[in-house]
Amino acid sequence: MDSSQVKAFFDEVSVEWDEMRSSFYNEAVIDALALHTEADPFMTVLDVGTGTGFVAAGLAPGVAQVVGVDNSLEMLAVAETNLAELGVGNATLAGGATDALPFADGNVDAAVANMVLHHAPEPVAMLAEMARVTRPGGWVAITDEIEHTYEWMRIEQADIWLGFSEADVAGFFADARLVEFGYASLGMQ
Ligand SMILES: C[S@@+](CC[C@H](N)C(=O)[O-])C[C@H]1O[C@@H](n2cnc3c(N)ncnc32)[C@H](O)[C@@H]1O
Repeated sequence: MDSSQVKAFFDEVSVEWDEMRSSFYNEAVIDALALHTEADPFMTVLDVGTGTGFVAAGLAPGVAQVVGVDNSLEMLAVAETNLAELGVGNATLAGGATDALPFADGNVDAAVANMVLHHAPEPVAMLAEMARVTRPGGWVAITDEIEHTYEWMRIEQADIWLGFSEADVAGFFADARLVEFGYASLGMQ
């Protein structure tokens, strides 16, 4: 599985993603991301790999601005519809890759990503980009799957990585030169 295959997968499943996603995660993941980024009404938050805008829409009421980025224009098209239907007026969407985010250094107060790191060709490059576009003192928070052995998920869910251990993630954060690392289980499967 390489990143062009990952993109083709998400282009293909874009209109089904909201249903697929609901079997993996629920709104608790948005609450955790808001908590760990100290989301407040003055912040601009970047949602990397926003997909159909699930996290962006959930964070929007509690922050000043959300920007969702994804390299699948099909996913972004569904996100645009979802955000309009939900009446979310403070979210914008942009095309972009995890390892080349289309923002200047320090442009946002926090960066989040749900279920994206295990699709990133280079997890450290993704985290380094999230750190680069976040202002000094801001927060980078990811939620992702824990390490597993389900090889079939490479095919059925376009996983490049079969999840990560706490040590893996700590190493990625350190290599991306992030500090004050924290790790917690959300208790989801
Ligand atoms: C598993 S979905 C998660 C979507 C969303 N975060 C959610 O919680 O529903 C992964 C998303 O990351 C995007 N993605 C995967 N690899 C990417 C890359 N290299 N650059 C940008 N987006 C990527 C996919 O297009 C997809 O929308």
